[in-house]
Amino acid sequence: MADRDVRIPLHAGPPARPVIAGNWKMNKGPSEARDFCGQFADAYEPHSDRSVLLFPPTIAFVTVADALAGRRDIRLGVQDVHWEEQGAFTGAISAPMARDAGAEFALVGHSERRHVFGETEEETGLKVAAVFEAGLLPVLCVGETIEERRAGKVEAVILRQLEAGLSGLSGARIAGVMIAYEPVWAIGTGETATPDDAAAAHGTLRTWLQERVPAAAIPILYGGSVKPDNATDLLAASDVDGLLVGGASLDPVSFAQIAAS
Ligand code: PGA
Repeated sequence: MADRDVRIPLHAGPPARPVIAGNWKMNKGPSEARDFCGQFADAYEPHSDRSVLLFPPTIAFVTVADALAGRRDIRLGVQDVHWEEQGAFTGAISAPMARDAGAEFALVGHSERRHVFGETEEETGLKVAAVFEAGLLPVLCVGETIEERRAGKVEAVILRQLEAGLSGLSGARIAGVMIAYEPVWAIGTGETATPDDAAAAHGTLRTWLQERVPAAAIPILYGGSVKPDNATDLLAASDVDGLLVGGASLDPVSFAQIAAS
């Protein structure tokens, strides 16, 4: 087994932008994950001008860390953590456990956590703080539903989620977060926000952050039906510093195309 410790001495700092992140959700056990890693490593050459992050399911995490041990350009995170360090929370994992396994990042508040599992905004705040405490970087996900968009509430919703998610942090830590804007209506639907929609939402988030900390360097990723054929246009939109890819990250060739966009 490869020595995972070398991944651990804290994260190597914020990832170079653009950041192309793959969120596998509840897909790929260890065997499929290992196959993906071999194929993706063949299809995607290391690039120094961007970062690739993978968020495998917890049960395949160590397999992916081992399979990609030779590819330090591909950095790893977990899809969710509990805010406590340990204890009687059946089925959950903690941020220190994720770090021990070699994770550098953790998604927090993905729309499926909020809307399928009923995660509250208060819980996202606890999780973001716990992620920092463990020496990982959080990727706080925010995004409105279609009803909220139709009601003209995009800004109000994403800023409320942003504020709640960052509520437990000092200014210095706020400057270290990563944000993902993922409109709920675009996730897994094939319907993508236009580059203008993404730029508007990202601008709103950046302005809020900028009022509190120097925010120019905070990566704000767009997620929601990103595919090889729309990745370049989305990445070119103002304030879009990367992509959080769900479905299209499951296929090594598609994800390699997006990562090279
Ligand atoms: P999708 O998912 O690319 O399948 O729409 C994105 C996400 O939920 O992170």
